[in-house]
Amino acid sequence: MPGSPANPFRIKSPELLVAESGADLSGHGLRRHMGLFQLVCFGVGAIVGTGIFVGLSDSVAQAGPAVVVSFVLAALTCVFTAFAFAELGGAIPVSGSSYSFAYAGLGEGTAFLVGWCLLLEYGVSVSAVAVGWSQYVNELLHSRVGWQLPPVLSAGPGDGGVVNLPAVIVIALAAVLLVRGVRESARATAAMAVLKLAILVAFCAIGFTAFRHGNLTPFAPAGLGGIGAGTTAAFFSYIGFDAITTAGEEAKNPRRNIPVAILVCLGLVTLLYCAVALAAIGAIGGPEVGGRPAALSYVVNQVTGSTLGGGVIAFGAVVAIASVVLAVMYGQTRILLSMSRDGLVPRVFERVSPKTSTPVSGTLVVAAVFAVPAAFSSLDAVVNLCTIGTLATMAVVNVVVIVLRRREPGLARSFRVPLYPVVPLLGVGFCGYLMYETGWTTWVQFAAFLAAGCLVYAFYGRRHSRAATGAVTPDATAVERQAV
Ligand code: ALA
Repeated sequence: MPGSPANPFRIKSPELLVAESGADLSGHGLRRHMGLFQLVCFGVGAIVGTGIFVGLSDSVAQAGPAVVVSFVLAALTCVFTAFAFAELGGAIPVSGSSYSFAYAGLGEGTAFLVGWCLLLEYGVSVSAVAVGWSQYVNELLHSRVGWQLPPVLSAGPGDGGVVNLPAVIVIALAAVLLVRGVRESARATAAMAVLKLAILVAFCAIGFTAFRHGNLTPFAPAGLGGIGAGTTAAFFSYIGFDAITTAGEEAKNPRRNIPVAILVCLGLVTLLYCAVALAAIGAIGGPEVGGRPAALSYVVNQVTGSTLGGGVIAFGAVVAIASVVLAVMYGQTRILLSMSRDGLVPRVFERVSPKTSTPVSGTLVVAAVFAVPAAFSSLDAVVNLCTIGTLATMAVVNVVVIVLRRREPGLARSFRVPLYPVVPLLGVGFCGYLMYETGWTTWVQFAAFLAAGCLVYAFYGRRHSRAATGAVTPDATAVERQAV
């Protein structure tokens, strides 16, 4: 039975978070399988997908050739926050990502709301990305076998269909891989990451053969406003870089490998995105790329004069987007596992199977729940909500760095944010700016989502919190403190 409600300002010390993950309350810990290479592949797997294959044309429509500036600005936002993730991921290597960091820095109530927002970044984006996957599957079928699924089976009601079957299938396949074990899913993710990088590099090689400087002018047809809007659109292509921190309990030498993997990943992906954008626009011009469905396939078809290359790109998109579904769904199950350990969400999410060392029931619940919006909604409907939720959690992570530097100066940090406190403050500022750029409709939706989160915390999380029931590890009370 739940006891008295927990104090929403109660914090968990970094030592307690690490000790609990090592002790694992279920008695069956996760295995440490992932080395640096696998972590980088996992990061690339989580990042590179719908944003570049589907979303590039939207960013170009907003910013024109200046989309490269948008990519750099979006990357800068991520880099500032990546430093914060690197410091916290190295100091607190547990599975909960920003949720756990917020628990350590700002207390249970904020941590719950961060976990709630992570449902937007991870859970809802699983649905959104699966919808993008479905479009490319049909594109591939159409270009290779001249047949495709009818809209009634390949799109939700908002897009003129009934049910999006491929989107549900890719979520089910990802769940099967994740249930089988992290070793298998990490291998699959690594293979898919390498393949999609190779396909994007090949795209650049083809695009640059037709590069014409004249296609880059006018450079910023919609001015600074266009660049700002393009930055918010481009940011979606970077969502997922923090997923590496959700592998904190399955990484080898996490204090070194997690910070390094985050920074390597972000550098690699930024270079690639800018190169892809320049290759596409340089080859056929911004107006031709902007707003065009399957733009990368179109560019290759134009440059090579054949549909074979476009088919290969469509195949790459199918692989790339599938790996995003896999990695992001993995992240969602690990965050829910951490929240479940704390009693803030039902215990089904914390059960780790002794046979596979994976949270089997949690994975199946996540797959079943997020298959529903995947089956019935459209990509556009949820992208902005994912973006604002992700930016909010990133702003909190930057704040936590500052709070913990002050409160826990002696904490073992394998990586330290450079130019402290300028960099985390810039991180908060950039996140705030991009949140502002999402527009008021998104803000209203986000406010409603947060209000729902407050109600869930007040009526479920706060009452079932292990901090409230006293069901914490024996030494926990010694290290728990009040944040205020
Ligand atoms: N960054 C991820 C993608 O572009 C969400 O698919």
